[in-house]
Amino acid sequence: MHLTPDQQAILDGARGPFLAKCLRWLVEWGDAMGARRLVPVTNTHALVTVPGNLVAHAGEKSLEATMELLREACRHPVCCLSTSHITFAHEEQYDEIEMPPEQVAAQQEIEGMAADAGFLMLYTCAPYLVGNVPVKGEVCAWTESSAVVYANSILGARTTRHGTESAIAAALTGWVPEFGVVLDENRRATLQIDVSAPLRSSADWGALGYFTGQAAGLEVPVLAGTPRPSQDDAKQLCAALASGGGVSLCHIAGVTPEAPTLEAALGGRPPEHRITFGPDELLATYAKLRNHTGEEIDTVILGCPHASLQEVAHIARFLKGRRLAEGVTLWVCMAYPTRAVAERLGFARWISDAGGYLFVDTCPTNSMRVRANRIVTSGFKQAHYARGMIGAEVIVDSLEKCLEAALAGRWNEAG
Ligand code: F3S
Repeated sequence: MHLTPDQQAILDGARGPFLAKCLRWLVEWGDAMGARRLVPVTNTHALVTVPGNLVAHAGEKSLEATMELLREACRHPVCCLSTSHITFAHEEQYDEIEMPPEQVAAQQEIEGMAADAGFLMLYTCAPYLVGNVPVKGEVCAWTESSAVVYANSILGARTTRHGTESAIAAALTGWVPEFGVVLDENRRATLQIDVSAPLRSSADWGALGYFTGQAAGLEVPVLAGTPRPSQDDAKQLCAALASGGGVSLCHIAGVTPEAPTLEAALGGRPPEHRITFGPDELLATYAKLRNHTGEEIDTVILGCPHASLQEVAHIARFLKGRRLAEGVTLWVCMAYPTRAVAERLGFARWISDAGGYLFVDTCPTNSMRVRANRIVTSGFKQAHYARGMIGAEVIVDSLEKCLEAALAGRWNEAG
């Protein structure tokens, strides 16, 4: 890889051993991926926090190793807008989820250090809802695969799928290796998905995303024939694209900023592959993400990815004056700023009066590993991961059907 004199100096230790290590990570990763140079990055979204599973599943050695990395990182100021992915829990929730003391101590230490270094600790998997909205063409370094797809496909920004180390290295050095969807030539769609299924809910967009993610492999897909998605539809689509497969970018003809037409998405060439997403594929994709052996449910998870204010308001209006069925736990997950507004506007009270939890900064499965036997969720990503991470049976359905199940204590397929 060609390095500029400035980059070579950092690699040689001119700004200290930790930044030299950061630059080496980026160079070695870039070399492995065929990058020829490092390019400036102006926006990062990193997992700066301590994921709970490091403690729960790997023991203290991993926690200490992670803490050492973060302590080193936070001694250096960030050089661009840098926000943070989910954490283990918000401090108000430490007792409620019986957070281990060593985890509490680690998280509190990191929070102070990270703020000093300039990280904006948003603690969300949907940073584009609460203040981190990159512009078209902006080179980013984001963790969280669903947010990566959203940034590339809906906002027209450019980010490969980062891990904690590379995103932190990018935040501190201001560089990323140029490969993958950062380059024009890798953003052209080669797989055309002809959509003829009716998309009546955000969950239907999730089904389309899951189907497309599974079909795409390493190709860039383009969706043809869809209506214009809402922000919440797009959120579900992008999360499912990233969990059904390894997609980083999916064009929606007429919606993705650089794809005003199908022809533009395909770069003026015919697609290399073409498949249909019709009513049968829609039903089959829902069926694939349902592994339940009965219809009684004990858990409902909404807000995967983290809920928008509009979703929270919708949930609140649905639940106002009603009560969840006995034995049902409803998690509505969101970023802290979203809950703050929901509290100000009265929506939070309607949800909690009905018996639901507004859970902030974290994720019931990915981070907290809640206990559940049978979950109903509107998120295909949640449905994909919940069975493996917490061993629960899962049913995926629209937001309204999930809420009806929460009130009835059972999921009604026909309802
Ligand atoms: Fe966010 Fe957890 Fe879903 S991290 S995208 S709520 S699986």
